[in-house]
Amino acid sequence: MMKKGKLKYRGAKRGLAVCIGASMSAMLVCGCETQQSVAENKVHVGVTYYNQSDTFLNELLECFEEDLKAYQKGGIETTVTIRDAAGAQRTQNDQVEELIDAGCDVLCVNLVDRADPSEIIDLARDHDVPIVFFNREPVAEDLLQWDKLYYVGADADQSGVFQGELASELIKNDAETDKNGDGRIQYVILEGEAGHQDAIIRTENAVETMKNNGVQLEKLSYQIANWNRAQAQNRMQQLIAQYGDGIELVLANNDDMALGAVDAYEKSGFPKEEYPAFFGIDGTNVGLQAVVDGSFSGTVYNDKEGQAAAMAELAVALATHDGLQNMEFERGKYIYLPYEKITVENVEDFLSETEPGS
Ligand code: GAL
Repeated sequence: MMKKGKLKYRGAKRGLAVCIGASMSAMLVCGCETQQSVAENKVHVGVTYYNQSDTFLNELLECFEEDLKAYQKGGIETTVTIRDAAGAQRTQNDQVEELIDAGCDVLCVNLVDRADPSEIIDLARDHDVPIVFFNREPVAEDLLQWDKLYYVGADADQSGVFQGELASELIKNDAETDKNGDGRIQYVILEGEAGHQDAIIRTENAVETMKNNGVQLEKLSYQIANWNRAQAQNRMQQLIAQYGDGIELVLANNDDMALGAVDAYEKSGFPKEEYPAFFGIDGTNVGLQAVVDGSFSGTVYNDKEGQAAAMAELAVALATHDGLQNMEFERGKYIYLPYEKITVENVEDFLSETEPGS
């Protein structure tokens, strides 16, 4: 049984190392004088994210809070205030104003509408509070509006390619995947929000990669389920009603939607041997568990620990005006963490061990 906060993932170890390493090196390199001023440093981080029902983001923010706490060992007192925008950009704009009024030194913003950050950017610039956008990538022109705007996320292209490679490998190695033996794979896709960089890119790359690997495909349906398990279950129930046992592969843009698809099959009464193959993306706790118990044929790890550590390091560096020079950026503003493929072969590396004594 998984215990919250008691598991260490591969990325968590890597993330923590980056995080503690950064604060310690600030202490060591700068000597006594700076040690004094670092010791006096207080950093208040304000976070707002698009929706508190999002499984992946809740796990990412849990890591982020832990990473910020770890800075205390380096003499930097950190506090964090987190707000849920509940799917409304208007609400999020108000939250940013409130967080700035509350004295936040830096903001971490997961936009509701990634095409609409202007009001937030104006507010932050007027008060000289830097912003680290995360997970929902603003368009490039918007990030150029001010030099204190950054983005931390993951390489969307890679996640789709990896999902397509995992599915291709299964189809090549397991003839049973082609249930009706017609030489083609009848597939459906469950997509995240329309307009989200991770939705369209994941879909396109997964399908393209399978085609490049010589897989003959027959598209049955693409359905939007907004990253959400219940919506995906609903869509999948409709698809099962339409296609019966004719679906051989379900590619979902994230684990929660893949889980929703599995839920629909469990309700359908089909015997397990007739289920299609399911693939997700994220490697959330429940997603990893689905790989362990065989519900998923695979998933792709969205490195929440790495992203959280990068956000924490960047937020502290921006607030303390120290450490930015040690960080590497793409195009001066972007940090992208890589994905990793997960199957039953390597899932243990991601679950990892329970801490001793717990
Ligand atoms: C994606 C993630 C989804 C969802 C979405 C929210 O990167 O795979 O599960 O969290 O971000 O923006």
